[in-house]
Amino acid sequence: EMVAAKPTQPRKRAGAAHAKIAPGDLPARLEAIAEHEKPPASLKDLQRALQSCRACPLWRDATQAVPGEGAEEPLLALVGEQPGDQEDLAGHPFVGPAGKVLDRALAEAGINRGELFVTNAVKHFKHEPRGKRRLHMRPNAGEVEICRWWLAHELTLVKPRLIVALGATALQSLSTYKGTLTKAREQTLKTREGATLRATVHPSYLLRLPDEAAKEAEFARFVADLKDSKQLAERIARAA
Ligand code: URA
Repeated sequence: EMVAAKPTQPRKRAGAAHAKIAPGDLPARLEAIAEHEKPPASLKDLQRALQSCRACPLWRDATQAVPGEGAEEPLLALVGEQPGDQEDLAGHPFVGPAGKVLDRALAEAGINRGELFVTNAVKHFKHEPRGKRRLHMRPNAGEVEICRWWLAHELTLVKPRLIVALGATALQSLSTYKGTLTKAREQTLKTREGATLRATVHPSYLLRLPDEAAKEAEFARFVADLKDSKQLAERIARAA
């Protein structure tokens, strides 16, 4: 589905390819954002400030930063990896092929997307050109760590009852958990800030499965994880 998607053209930028972030550079860069960007007072402020983030080089080749969006004080916040090609152009998270899978799973789980907050660990689309296509590249640990500043502030402002990491990148950003995603999926974890966290697969993983039977079985597990997360969030809300 993703491969068959229409090629899209990035906005032309003078920017070079991805400059590497040297490990020693990281604290200085983090300090630079902390100094430049006061903690945003509202989600609107954060969305505005995010557009001028230059803390890592990913902004150069992206059309725009894609902030999280959705309900405030929701039961669930879903955190993906980074915007894809279509999200980069539209400025909204999960509107491309992975978003379609997510929407289908949410519908099966009886969850209305409007009740959720949906965001990403990294806010700019990292990609490499391949002909007319822009191929997704996984953000590296430094980029994830830098962008955590924005994610942590989003979640502090939005105050979900439960956060769900969609895939390993989100899990890495949100928690210090060092086990596999498979193991993380069986537990209730905590974020670095102490919020309740669940983990499941990224919807793109389902798109990549070559076998129809496996696809169906894994989709059903994904739906079950989402349902389970909603039930846990409801229990947390009742106990508060
Ligand atoms: N994949 C993600 O992780 N996030 C999006 O917004 C789209 C695709």
